[in-house]
Amino acid sequence: MASSTLIPPLGLGTYGRTGPQGVDAISTALEIGYRHLDTAQSYDTEATVGEAVRRSGLGRDAVFITTKVADTNLAPADFMASVRKSLDTIGVDQVDLLLIHWPVPQEVVPLESYMEALGQAREAGYARLIGVSNFTIALLERAQALLDAQALATNQVEIHPWLQVPKLRDFARGSGLQLTAYQPLVKGQVATDPVLMRIAEELGTGPAAVALAFLMAEGHIVIPASASRTNLQNNWDATTIILTPEHMDQIRRLDRGYRHINPAKSPRWDD
Ligand SMILES: NC(=O)c1ccc[n+]([C@@H]2O[C@H](COP(=O)([O-])OP(=O)(O)OC[C@H]3O[C@@H](n4cnc5c(N)ncnc54)[C@H](OP(=O)(O)O)[C@@H]3O)[C@@H](O)[C@H]2O)c1
Repeated sequence: MASSTLIPPLGLGTYGRTGPQGVDAISTALEIGYRHLDTAQSYDTEATVGEAVRRSGLGRDAVFITTKVADTNLAPADFMASVRKSLDTIGVDQVDLLLIHWPVPQEVVPLESYMEALGQAREAGYARLIGVSNFTIALLERAQALLDAQALATNQVEIHPWLQVPKLRDFARGSGLQLTAYQPLVKGQVATDPVLMRIAEELGTGPAAVALAFLMAEGHIVIPASASRTNLQNNWDATTIILTPEHMDQIRRLDRGYRHINPAKSPRWDD
């Protein structure tokens, strides 16, 4: 496992990358230079992530691996067994980051119970870092009060140029918590945004890369997904793009609170 407490700012989302084609796409990303892979118990990609890392020949400490405990595995009887199963499926002794995928209502499993289990998973050495996903400010405040200060490495939430979550972003900045932007390309839709297209043309790159460069400049980690070598490379190129303050202002104005992922189990979002 990687030894730094820093999470590589550009990772690969692996949702949908199952089977041999999934292994190929993840392998291509590793060839390009990606060193951070985002999987989850519910994606059915833990095995493909493990296989691609082994196939790459990279040392275990060269690749940052995140997985997430599914909301159906948060009860005390299921939590730790599900984490051990994830480690077996990926084929590692420890993940770099273990997240609670979605919060559940207090009457289903109390937050106190699964945050304690998350801390115990880290103490047992199953995870180097721990964090949460789809947590609101109210849930973060409770989670942060339950764990030691700064215990949470990230909150992974939907963020992109059309959903910039200003309230959550300001809370996170104020408490030193980094946000990870999932679905940062809105499934590729941001590539049609005229402002991003214009800036991309000016810089000689693509609009998706501009969106990712913007999110990283805002301090977020990004985990875009792709099965195409061309798009994987374009997205990776975002790590070298430098946006001007004027570009940043223009992209900040694109926020329109457009939320794409909002299942019935969602908490009451802040933004
Ligand atoms: N924690 C959570 O609850 C949660 C929820 C959702 C997602 N996630 C994580 O976030 C990751 C990313 O989200 P996502 O996969 O839903 O969506 P995404 O990364 O926003 O978009 C992926 C889509 O965008 C297209 N695309 C990628 N690069 C492009 C480019 N340069 N130009 C144009 N189109 C491009 C891809 O098509 P091609 O394959 O053709 O390139 C793919 O269809 C997931 O894989 C998962 O790891 C987490």
